[in-house]
Amino acid sequence: MTTAPTTAPSALQADPDWWRQAAVYQIYPRSFADGNGDGIGDLRGIISRVPYLRSLGIDAVWLSPFYPSALADGGYDVDDYRDVDPRIGTLEEFDEMVAALHAAGIRLIVDVVPNHSSDRHEWFQEALASPKGSDARARYIFRDGRGENGQEPPADWTSIFSGPAWTQVPDGQWYLHSFATEQPDFNWKHPEVREDFLRTVAFWSDRGVDGFRIDVAHGLAKDLPEELPSAAELSAMPKDGTHPLWDRDDVHEIYAEWRELFDRYDPPRIAVAEAWVDSPERRARYASPEGLGQAFNFDLMEADFDAAHFREIVTDNLAQSALTGSSTTWVFSNHDGVRHATRYGLPPRAGRPVKQGAEWVLAGGPESGIDRELGLRRARAATLFELALPGSAYLYQGEELGLHEVAEIPDAQRQDPAFWRTTTEDRGFDGLGRDGCRVPLPWTRTGPSFGFGAAGAHLPQPAWFAEVSVEAEDGAAGSTLEMYRAALRLRAELQGEEVLEWDEQISTGDTLGFVRPDGWVSVTNFGLAATALPEGEVLLSSSPLETTADGDAVLPGSTTVWLRRSV
Ligand code: NOJ
Repeated sequence: MTTAPTTAPSALQADPDWWRQAAVYQIYPRSFADGNGDGIGDLRGIISRVPYLRSLGIDAVWLSPFYPSALADGGYDVDDYRDVDPRIGTLEEFDEMVAALHAAGIRLIVDVVPNHSSDRHEWFQEALASPKGSDARARYIFRDGRGENGQEPPADWTSIFSGPAWTQVPDGQWYLHSFATEQPDFNWKHPEVREDFLRTVAFWSDRGVDGFRIDVAHGLAKDLPEELPSAAELSAMPKDGTHPLWDRDDVHEIYAEWRELFDRYDPPRIAVAEAWVDSPERRARYASPEGLGQAFNFDLMEADFDAAHFREIVTDNLAQSALTGSSTTWVFSNHDGVRHATRYGLPPRAGRPVKQGAEWVLAGGPESGIDRELGLRRARAATLFELALPGSAYLYQGEELGLHEVAEIPDAQRQDPAFWRTTTEDRGFDGLGRDGCRVPLPWTRTGPSFGFGAAGAHLPQPAWFAEVSVEAEDGAAGSTLEMYRAALRLRAELQGEEVLEWDEQISTGDTLGFVRPDGWVSVTNFGLAATALPEGEVLLSSSPLETTADGDAVLPGSTTVWLRRSV
């Protein structure tokens, strides 16, 4: 594989602010590259693709869980927080990967999953083997059941993946799991839980990790009353810091301790919270400098492709992050959502579950209802919009190839617990579960698993992967891969002060334009019809610009252009 020329990354410097406007590339390790040919992506695979990562021009990698796990939830069910799953590699290979990434000028953020462990974690096993009321049980959340013999769950709560949130153990007690049965929630009031996670973040920080992505950051602190509320009562309670389960004010005491530890490193370790909270104001608490420092904002991921909505989201989030002195984050795709090329090819608010006969499909049918071309065109425009914004951009593996969601996975091969825990209409995660964005990446046009690895892929890859493989797009003029490379290269050059000014002249109707320092302008046409091309030197566009019969250059529909104006 040839790689596009790229500016050599300067050696990593001890810049404490490196994260503020970083382009971070998420690797879902089991589906990235399989180095040892066992059908599962691994650290060897990542090491072998460092030249590719470097050619993209990203600043950092965020590595989803790579810890020992039974994969009941794709690795978010952790057996041991301070080791590597033997199918993925070894600690020595982890060190080698850190060194290879750093040598390429790329930092590393790893996922920490502190809300729950797996049911195979030694502490949970110890809890099961210990009696009711024991200290081992107190590290998790155990309760007696209701009913005469305690045969009913302590409360009628539903897990986030649907199905009951309480599961009974052989001696009759029940434990809480906000997600799958195999993911028991920790009791963060237990001092050993707090100490152990401090050990974990120190362990990886000592190994050279630059930062952490904190899973379910809003869930750790819990305060369950003796008399548990019903599910209906629970969901009626405000999430204003006093809710028994979510976004409690006291969760920040935990992060204050973590911050103290992060700040002992040079440069300080960074953290980004995955916090699903009720308002940008509450999200800002996670992003405070005394806490985790940054928090995901998923607003663009949840929005339709719409100029007014995008503008509102950007304005709100920049204002919120300014309040805490943090920088905001932008995300269009990740391992939990339908890929943005597909979302934008569906009717507004679609991409959500619909049932056709006995089958769940993406709205409109797995393929027929999707305008794949329009979806990709809009996704590319959205990405250039994103990469011109101040703040950090989180990119998900495969979006640089313009991958669509893989809808056509036979039910029997699906892995996501969100798919399996229910077959009813309340099925979460867009009705199809999250496997469609986790299919192993296509590296080559042909060959076993399109170059993912010698032993095939653990989720079936469709035939159309050939033409969106790295091999097909590498060096190909106009390919999505080359657009990402060009955009990231330019962004690194142009990204200045963290400010943005809307260009009111341009920003009317379906068109949205903003100016960054030094005359860098980004203009997006969210509509379908072409519009006038604003003045300036064209740097890059997400689709080819067009010329009218009169010879005037125009900005076609669903396109973003970057311009430079003299200042
Ligand atoms: C959020 C993660 O992104 C998701 O993949 C996981 O299933 C849940 N947290 C539970 O850990």
